[in-house]
Amino acid sequence: MYKFPEGFLWGAATASYQIEGAWNEDGKGESIWDRYSHNPAMVYNSDTGDVACDHYHRMPQDVALIKSLGLKAYRFSISWPRVLPSGIGTANPKGLDFYDRLVDELLKAGITPMATLNHWDLPQVLQDQGGWNARSTVEAFAEYARLIFERYSGKIKFFATHNEPWVISFMGYGFATMAPGIADYSQALQAAHHLLLSHGKAVQIFRQGGYHGQIGIVLNLGHYVPASDNPQDIAACERQYQQDNAMFLSPIFKGEYPLNFLQWIKHHQPKVEGGDMQLISQPIDFLGVNYYMTHEVSYSQNGGLLKSKSQMISAPGWGTTEMGWGVYPPGLEKLLLHISENYTKIPIYITENGTALLDTPDANQFVMDRGRINFIREHLLAAHQAIQAGVNLKGYFVWSLMDNFEWCQGYRPRFGIVRVDYNTQKRTPKQSALWYSQVIAQNGIND
Ligand code: FCB
Repeated sequence: MYKFPEGFLWGAATASYQIEGAWNEDGKGESIWDRYSHNPAMVYNSDTGDVACDHYHRMPQDVALIKSLGLKAYRFSISWPRVLPSGIGTANPKGLDFYDRLVDELLKAGITPMATLNHWDLPQVLQDQGGWNARSTVEAFAEYARLIFERYSGKIKFFATHNEPWVISFMGYGFATMAPGIADYSQALQAAHHLLLSHGKAVQIFRQGGYHGQIGIVLNLGHYVPASDNPQDIAACERQYQQDNAMFLSPIFKGEYPLNFLQWIKHHQPKVEGGDMQLISQPIDFLGVNYYMTHEVSYSQNGGLLKSKSQMISAPGWGTTEMGWGVYPPGLEKLLLHISENYTKIPIYITENGTALLDTPDANQFVMDRGRINFIREHLLAAHQAIQAGVNLKGYFVWSLMDNFEWCQGYRPRFGIVRVDYNTQKRTPKQSALWYSQVIAQNGIND
């Protein structure tokens, strides 16, 4: 048996836009993902999050489900436009009421809440004023964060400011592959800086207000390996790593952007004002790591600004997932060691890890998902090794509690350990959920 440390926090994660639905009910404002998905060309099958898992109306049953699986913690996100329909200003009482009830239900069930303030669904009104490319959005986020801290201090134990600022800035503003759909590399860098700055402001407000709980941020971090020991490949890999990981880890934990990278991208550098880096690098209580993949990087003449070609790799015996992603469990251990050795010793939580596979339900909607069990198991073993090696890893959240709206891929990929039948909204735990329950109950993995 591979035992985990006592008190290891076992959980599952979701995000507001991916599960809630009720996109325009009870006074909720429009988010950039409402706007984006309502353009039929943007999402697979023209799917939208209008209904999603209808969690907004089924929340008590969903919390009961979380409890029945024995999860110790639940990571969800708060929809900013649901609680502040205009982005700033007057709060929407019905929106807050929903999260009041969710948090109370969780606490009643003995489940530790971890809330993400921004899991991508920026209020559209703020996008109309420039979104994350505008410095004014930093102030708006700070005000929103204060509202949430005031209301949930002492109830929500873990507050994460942002989920995956890399995805928001680079995919949203740099490569136009996510909402808001802008392709401008300079804007991506500026958006990244504003996201980090708003994180810092929120941390400052949290400390000054003396709120209870812990504050951190969730980053998507990959493991990067050069395709060969050719110096050009090594340098290209370093650039890719700096853009994807160090652009976020370094300002938060060292108070500076990676210098070589800034020099490489020249005029695309973000505008940074005096005091910004101090705000960004204020001490936080935990780091959330979303790990999905390992990249092999080589030098490429046609590799755009970075002159790099990056591809996901799979460890021997692992194919690719329904997302087309490689599977590389040992990368998780390497990544955790790398963070611990180079950036921080504060508690780390794996805030997302999981896989979309082709699920074949039986007549009762039950899915025998051995592939997902293998995936989670191998990643947990990698995490276990990292702990043995001294990494301060405190918990693991599987992505996702249930099948949901997978952004531009719509409802096609299924990441849940619980199946959702979108016709009836019936939830059916998959074999992986039953297996995961067992892992939690014994706080360990069988040999
Ligand atoms: C992450 C997102 C999460 C989910 C998974 C599959 O990048 O944070 O919302 O879509 O990927």
